[in-house]
Amino acid sequence: MTGGPPNAGPARLWGGRFAKSVDRTIDDFTSSLPFDQRLAPHDIVGSMAHARMLYEQGVLDRESAEPILDGLSALLSGLEGGTVSVQDGYEDVHSWIEGTLIERLGDPGRRLHTGRSRNDQTGTALRLYLRDEVAELVGLVSQLLETLRAKASEHTDTLLPGYTHLQRGQPVSLAHHLLAHFWFLEADAQRLMRAHGLAGTSVLGAGALAGSPHDIDPERSAELLGFERTLDNSMHAVADRDYVVETCFACALVLVHLSRWAEEVILWTSAEFGFAQLDDAAAKGSSIMPQKKNPEPLEVLRGKSGRAVGDLMAHLMQLKGLPLTYNSDLQEDKEALFDALETARAALTVANVVVQGLSYDADRMAAALYGSFVTATDLADALVKRGLPFREAHEQTGAAVRVAEEAGVELWELPLDTLRACCPLADESIYAGLDPASSVAAHDSYGGPAPQRVREQLERAVTARDAIDAWRTGRVEPPVLRAHRAGTLSQSERLAVEDGS
Ligand code: ARG
Repeated sequence: MTGGPPNAGPARLWGGRFAKSVDRTIDDFTSSLPFDQRLAPHDIVGSMAHARMLYEQGVLDRESAEPILDGLSALLSGLEGGTVSVQDGYEDVHSWIEGTLIERLGDPGRRLHTGRSRNDQTGTALRLYLRDEVAELVGLVSQLLETLRAKASEHTDTLLPGYTHLQRGQPVSLAHHLLAHFWFLEADAQRLMRAHGLAGTSVLGAGALAGSPHDIDPERSAELLGFERTLDNSMHAVADRDYVVETCFACALVLVHLSRWAEEVILWTSAEFGFAQLDDAAAKGSSIMPQKKNPEPLEVLRGKSGRAVGDLMAHLMQLKGLPLTYNSDLQEDKEALFDALETARAALTVANVVVQGLSYDADRMAAALYGSFVTATDLADALVKRGLPFREAHEQTGAAVRVAEEAGVELWELPLDTLRACCPLADESIYAGLDPASSVAAHDSYGGPAPQRVREQLERAVTARDAIDAWRTGRVEPPVLRAHRAGTLSQSERLAVEDGS
């Protein structure tokens, strides 16, 4: 049974062995054009490198290479200038580009596909696209890192409890807390850069799966595309989507990290905590309760983390059990990847706006340092410094906490004889280390919350972000794209210059 009339769309790139045209339902179901058209510029760049390599190798003569390169340049300029748009009815973006070239050029257009397949072509376009998008994401992470660092630098002396199990634990500074989020995101930038590096293997030259009998030069294609490496194995090259998995994972982890931060802001802006206030521009109201100021962007962000994890899972499931080499299941890689990239982009942008507008209530934070014995560990450590084994100090301090709790006072409000009844080594001087500020100052181990250590950490944060920005600025455009943008010389004129003719 067929589901619809045959597709009367544009001619396809195959057909010789088929007696019938494809059923419309089948065509619609299998087409990737609705979502892969965003790869058009990257696919054109891949084709430019391929055509140029074929020409340099003598596989294409000048009469074919010139119109192909000029035709590709014109198509790219047309897309970028908005005078050309992708046309419906093709199987995928690769078919549209080749079909359009054939329509415009005739015979030379029909020679472009020499020594390549859509299988190595689609991998090439996807890798180029992914690398551009990932570099954009790294830029967004970098902006958020700077916003967090700047906020942190204003709050080295703002104290609050650090939590474990969402119970007050030990005093820290707000700067230290914000920088903890900084380092999660800094690691995200590193992960994204690694995913970018992983995608830097050129697969052009793998053909359908078995390379090519033509005298192609995959290393030259890699060089023209700005890839760092060339494929090792043509079968691996067309079956490999590990770079998509790693990128989806990096995006999912960005979202997971942002969702942890978002959850904290949601808690902190509640009346129960009252530690922070969202800027009015970053909150929403209620249609019925006039007093409400809801942290909705953060809730949406928290929700979208599930979506990003889903994208990663979806793509892993597409790969699971897939035999070598190319299978059309792989076409499904794109929507998962695009969604993961878009979700990460939106979340990072929103988080940056929210952090910029957040204000903190230092008094509420300070108030939370009282009544919960957040310096009990400092008392235990003071006893250790007086010679007691830590486990005994822990036990004795626990007893002192119980006494203070029953009396409704802070540890430092216990009279010395009461304190000594629990902790015999206690003396007058032990009280000095028990207030929250003294505790923070004393925690001056490397990476700790003491103001001097946090200032060092802020310096490391600057260095880390500078390195990320240096990576971004050091990124090179594919040479073949640079040649296209270089100016007035057309691709064919450039061939002539290179030839010295
Ligand atoms: N559109 C496909 C994709 O997105 C690429 C085409 C490969 N198709 C094929 N029949 N070999 O993965």
